[in-house]
Amino acid sequence: MSQETEDEGDETPLEDLQRRREESHRGGGEERIERQHDRGKMTAYERVEYLLDEDTFVEVDPFVEHRSTNFGMADKRFHGDAVVTGYGEVDGRKIFVFAHDFTVLGGSVGEAVADKVCKVMDRAIENGVPVVGINDSGGARIQEGVDSLVGFARIFERNTKASGLIPQISAIMGPCAGGATYSPALTDFTFMVEDTSHMFITGPNVIETVTGEQVSKEELGGAGSHSSKSGVAHFACRTEEDALDRIRRLLGYLPANNMEDPPRVPAWDDPTRELDGVTDVVPEAPRKPYDMTKVIDRVVDEDSFFETHKNWARNVVVGFARMDGRVVGIVANQPRVSAGTLDIDAAEKAARFVRFCDSFNCPLVTLVDVPGFMPGTDQEHNGIIRRGAKLIYAYAEATVPLLSVVVRKAYGGAYIVMSSKYLGSDVNYAWPGSEMAVLGPRGAVNILYRNELQAADDPDARRQELMDEFREEFANPYGPARRGYIDDVIEPKDTRKRLITDLEILDRKREESPPKDHGNIPL
Ligand code: HXC
Repeated sequence: MSQETEDEGDETPLEDLQRRREESHRGGGEERIERQHDRGKMTAYERVEYLLDEDTFVEVDPFVEHRSTNFGMADKRFHGDAVVTGYGEVDGRKIFVFAHDFTVLGGSVGEAVADKVCKVMDRAIENGVPVVGINDSGGARIQEGVDSLVGFARIFERNTKASGLIPQISAIMGPCAGGATYSPALTDFTFMVEDTSHMFITGPNVIETVTGEQVSKEELGGAGSHSSKSGVAHFACRTEEDALDRIRRLLGYLPANNMEDPPRVPAWDDPTRELDGVTDVVPEAPRKPYDMTKVIDRVVDEDSFFETHKNWARNVVVGFARMDGRVVGIVANQPRVSAGTLDIDAAEKAARFVRFCDSFNCPLVTLVDVPGFMPGTDQEHNGIIRRGAKLIYAYAEATVPLLSVVVRKAYGGAYIVMSSKYLGSDVNYAWPGSEMAVLGPRGAVNILYRNELQAADDPDARRQELMDEFREEFANPYGPARRGYIDDVIEPKDTRKRLITDLEILDRKREESPPKDHGNIPL
């Protein structure tokens, strides 16, 4: 196994270097590379080359080797050990990258692998450059014992230190088990590949032994489960190429670090464009479902909406887009799913996105159409109170420009949460006909007039009368507009133009917070 076994006596130093580089590129050897390909997986080098612009990869530490001699490890030395690290460019912008090499000892993480990963992470933090980590690993290297666990601890510490300083993106392209899952979990966005990637704390065998439950790897921790049930993955991708393409696209919306603005590009869509047919998309009837992404697509620059976390908590939509070439984060209720109510998952999904945007100077545009928080014992007992509070916290602490538009309704606590004026929002608009109140007309009338309705000759007719009165009084945007909670009631067709004008003004927004170590978000 050792790579130092050939007779290298006649080599010049340059030939020696060349040979060592070639050995490093062969990783764990042709047979294991072939096995990797047979499984539909690329090698670490192939992934890095695919991710980066052509000929931009600069490798770091190609000759690092582990120092272990236990369990026959002295004979299993590989140039570069089980990870490929370095830097390169995506669309001309620098990123650091590490990619586990599964062909070397199953991509397992020992001391030397951790050293290499920590080195590129430190350089990324010091220089303000994003990091992409490609995970394909059997986890902590068994032969290296506690040194391997310590290696993970050092990586987790870097992940946490880097959080909010530089964007961190994880791709899962093979196994990712046990404590190893926590490095991707500490990063900002996680991409998984269908069928070939799996994440779990404990695999199916152990689960069956401990609890008797039988579950497949895919069902337990595949891309489908994590992108739709647990929310651990933001993207489930068909192939590795698809995942790497989407990482490139995501990076295009992100600044290199928290001191820079997201990259603005020359506008390709008219900033004064009126929204074509948007009133046909949003029904007047307050409870009729429709697809909010059709509104988003009309508001933002053409084809610029890049949805993240698309399959999880689908009652809220989040993602990046451009407006007049400027990057914005979009948060919107989705009336097509559970009537757009806010539940635990939706609150956590939106809160995490809001906090990412706030860390990386990305203004937030919130489109509101929400009947309230989801009622029920399931939600209450799972902590909708403390977990819903995360979204309030995220908006209230955000210092980036915050803009919102109530397109149809905003009731109760959900009105407050969705970027309302006194949570610190800069610009709040509402469309004509939109409703804002403590409760919807039916719920409000049933509570306020319960006795009267019970005594009425025709309760339904009386209820309707009272609901109409309620709607006249509360369920329109002019009450909030009279008090300045809504800055203006705008024509739907003008939404894009107005938001873009405001984004220009808010470019200069500076907000100071009193110094503190950090807040105590309800986790
Ligand atoms: C050392 C490992 C290894 C590991 C795999 N290999 N995992 N070597 N340490 N953790 C080696 C195998 O010996 C084998 O070497 C090669 O990698 C490929 O492994 P295979 O088993 O042949 O591949 P496959 O069938 O695809 O199975 C992959 C696997 C399985 C699912 C990852 O190997 C596996 O279950 N490994 C153990 C996973 C695990 O329990 N890790 C610890 C998790 S806990 P050869 O020489 O034959 O090619 C953890 C704690 C982190 O990570 C703590 C942080 C705080």
